[in-house]
Amino acid sequence: MKNDLYERLLELREQAKSVGEPVLRDKSFELLLKTVEKKQPLKLLEIGVNRGLSGIGMLLSSPKATLAGIEIDEDKIKIAKGNYAEFGVEERAKIFYGDASEIIPVLTGEYDFIFLDGPKGHYYEYLPNLLAVLSKGGILFADNVLFRGYVGGKVKTPHKFNTTKNSMERFLKAITTDNNLKTQIYEIEDGVSITEKL
Ligand SMILES: C[S@@+](CC[C@H](N)C(=O)[O-])C[C@H]1O[C@@H](n2cnc3c(N)ncnc32)[C@H](O)[C@@H]1O
Repeated sequence: MKNDLYERLLELREQAKSVGEPVLRDKSFELLLKTVEKKQPLKLLEIGVNRGLSGIGMLLSSPKATLAGIEIDEDKIKIAKGNYAEFGVEERAKIFYGDASEIIPVLTGEYDFIFLDGPKGHYYEYLPNLLAVLSKGGILFADNVLFRGYVGGKVKTPHKFNTTKNSMERFLKAITTDNNLKTQIYEIEDGVSITEKL
């Protein structure tokens, strides 16, 4: 996808970054869109919507897809909805407002692509319920799995991040040792994992 809409999306991403919004990093964003473009999923789920920019990228990359997002910050939801409208994807995207810890366990239906980009200390807790709504052959794409290099020990973990790091390690172990899953880890930026449910 290289067109005017994509250029505008990149512009909005730069704006968000310039005010310190935590949007997906550039190479990871490209990998996300490439993965979605290849798979052409129909039902997308995103944990951590922020301004809706990764969601828009996914919807533009899979034109028949619908997206459900989860976001805890009401102000960000307003901005995301405005952005969805600007890109003409508002009919294909909805946002659940609230804490992912409460919303994920009550999700119904099946998703064939899940983008996990919410609070880093909770991935392991979310995993069983996310796998329960992921269809066979579906993809779980997770950002920040190497968490600043602390996971894997490339960078010494400051005390205050130990809990998050330990939780992320449990998440990685779970997705790499389960025989029903096939996972690839990408050592780019903050670390990305792509897991297929077999
Ligand atoms: C890294 S940002 C998402 C970036 C977005 N995926 C993108 O690349 O444009 C993480 C988002 O998760 C939201 N968030 C944090 N804790 C959450 C929670 N417990 N439940 C739902 N959303 C949460 C934050 O408000 C933030 O907007």
